[in-house]
Amino acid sequence: MADPLDLRDYERMAPGHMSEMAWEYLRGGAGDEHTIRWNEEAYQRLRLMPRHLVDVSRLDTGVCLFGRRLSHPVMLAPVAYQKLMHADGELEMVRGAAAAEAAVVLSSFSTVTLEDVAGAAKTPLWFQLYIQPDREFTRGLVGRAEAAGYAALVVTVDTPVLGARYREQRMSFALPPGMVQANLKGLATATGDHRPKGQQIYSAVLDPRLSWKDIDWLRSITRLPIVLKGVLNPDDAARAVEAGASGLIVSNHGGRNMDTVPATIDALPAVSARVAGRIPVLVDGGIRRGTDVLKALALGASAVLIGRPYVHGLAIGGALGVCHVVRILRRELEMAMALSGRTSIEQVDASLILR
Ligand code: FNR
Ligand code: LAC
Repeated sequence: MADPLDLRDYERMAPGHMSEMAWEYLRGGAGDEHTIRWNEEAYQRLRLMPRHLVDVSRLDTGVCLFGRRLSHPVMLAPVAYQKLMHADGELEMVRGAAAAEAAVVLSSFSTVTLEDVAGAAKTPLWFQLYIQPDREFTRGLVGRAEAAGYAALVVTVDTPVLGARYREQRMSFALPPGMVQANLKGLATATGDHRPKGQQIYSAVLDPRLSWKDIDWLRSITRLPIVLKGVLNPDDAARAVEAGASGLIVSNHGGRNMDTVPATIDALPAVSARVAGRIPVLVDGGIRRGTDVLKALALGASAVLIGRPYVHGLAIGGALGVCHVVRILRRELEMAMALSGRTSIEQVDASLILR
């Protein structure tokens, strides 16, 4: 096959570059996988309405988040177990992010320690926190992320239990010998991976008791900005602002947890309206084109995250592949801005979407 040109090419080529188990884990979702499909289809349904005769000879894709300027709004979402897709796993991923000037959210379930990843990072790094049933261990993890220079904590709130993931089950998902949840070493309850055992629905490394009071607790033990990932309901968004969250990520976990929840781009407008600019709102799920990024920004997102697409890049080309995937999206975003008469991200507003 010829060199990959866009994210579709990367997706088509990716299964040839990893084990069948890794591919089924990566592509899979919950139930009948309707939400995975909707995440992409919802972007395709939105129609763009451009303005013309604007001088677009200079474009600025820059955004500002928590006081840091980013040269573009495409971030890398937390994806667990990247050594399944590349021998150097998350280390190689942050090398690619550095070349692409992309900010990164590292998964709690990385196969390289958060310290080693921070050592190789050159762009802003946030740490995705799965609050552990063992709160003292969690406190230690937060301290480690602070000490290593992570700029924010991203608490995933949509996973008290995992969804019904039959692809993982069919493959008898397990981390191969030599691969571990590197950040969870020393955690007595860690069992090697995230899957519940047998007929259980509860996982040893997820906490089904998690509630708003734990967000208060987390705020009391860290000065890092706390971003809640997985918010879909505007009532939760309002509650998050009250609870002192510094940001939100509208996400349905890439369709991996509860099937038939809405596409994230369909949920974004109501969340963004309720938050009313008090804190930044980000979005992930189904972003495969520069026009998708433009639509997310138009409907109120301050930045977007991609998950599966950069992992395809990682598997196929290591750091180069990760970098290329982000650059493709950034270039498509620039084209879409130019073609819609917007020269900066501030000018990307809701009037770009046909009502
Ligand atoms: C994820 N996601 C995820 N989220 C999280 O908060 N912690 C995690 O460890 C993981 N792990 C993970 C593994 C794999 C293989 C995938 C595909 C996804 C969810 C991820 O951060 C993000 O929300 C979605 O991937 C976004 O959707 P797209 O871009 O993959 O469509
Ligand atoms: C996943 C978990 C580990 O989506 O977040 O696979």
